[in-house]
Amino acid sequence: MKKKITTIDLIKMKERGEKIVIRTAYDALFAEIEDQSGVEVILVGDSAGMVVAGYETTLPITMEEMLYHTRAVRRGVKRALLVADMPFLSFQLSPDDAVYNAGRFLKEGGAEAVKIEGGGRFIGIAKRLVETGIPVMGHLGLTPQSVHCFGGYGVRARRPSEADKLLVDAQALEEAGAFSIVLEKIPAELAKKVTESINIPTIGIGSGRYCDGQVLVVHDMLGIYDKFRPKFVRRYAELGQQIRKAVGQYVTDIKGGKFPSDEESY
Ligand code: KIV
Repeated sequence: MKKKITTIDLIKMKERGEKIVIRTAYDALFAEIEDQSGVEVILVGDSAGMVVAGYETTLPITMEEMLYHTRAVRRGVKRALLVADMPFLSFQLSPDDAVYNAGRFLKEGGAEAVKIEGGGRFIGIAKRLVETGIPVMGHLGLTPQSVHCFGGYGVRARRPSEADKLLVDAQALEEAGAFSIVLEKIPAELAKKVTESINIPTIGIGSGRYCDGQVLVVHDMLGIYDKFRPKFVRRYAELGQQIRKAVGQYVTDIKGGKFPSDEESY
């Protein structure tokens, strides 16, 4: 096995100009396959709420559900850094709440870092987590937990005032001790500017090529999740179609008396 990845390794990768690869995972089996594929970080995203649990948004997923996914992923990961996403209302209420819930991801879930959405007052929360010994990945731009404020999943920070604020937030997150920042669905030129203005890695999702690394939701890139298909998702497989075909064939075989065969019987 190659060397275990730490938060420090990611910062060194940025210094060397090496791209960082992140993917989400929600269970042990996928996590093991992904870990062996050479990703540096596996993120247990709260996207689990949509792609696994079937909620309309990421808002309903709970701490207990996220802990369940994190524990499962932990069992599949040996090399990658394991980051758990803090679900809606697990860190927003108070810094004490944030420390307690983030601490649960490390103590009970086996995560090595947490991700929190948002700038502004959440930067103080990030600082408190880091001071407690909990590494923090920030998340700016399209922060899906704020979907109802944004009125949808459109591109963020096109307006100069929002772009300026995002840049200030990114610098403040670095100052607060965050080890990296996800930039979701912002213009590529803004992502470039942010990337060049901080020393911690930026991880893009729908934010162009200039970020220090990239992340995609694994169910999106494998073509399993079909409810929406943003243009930034490159589909590396169409597993949804293959699964539909396979399970349909299984039904046909049983109904037609073709399964099981003598070879598949004892
Ligand atoms: O929840 C998630 O999967 C995420 C990534 C897409 C960054 O936040």
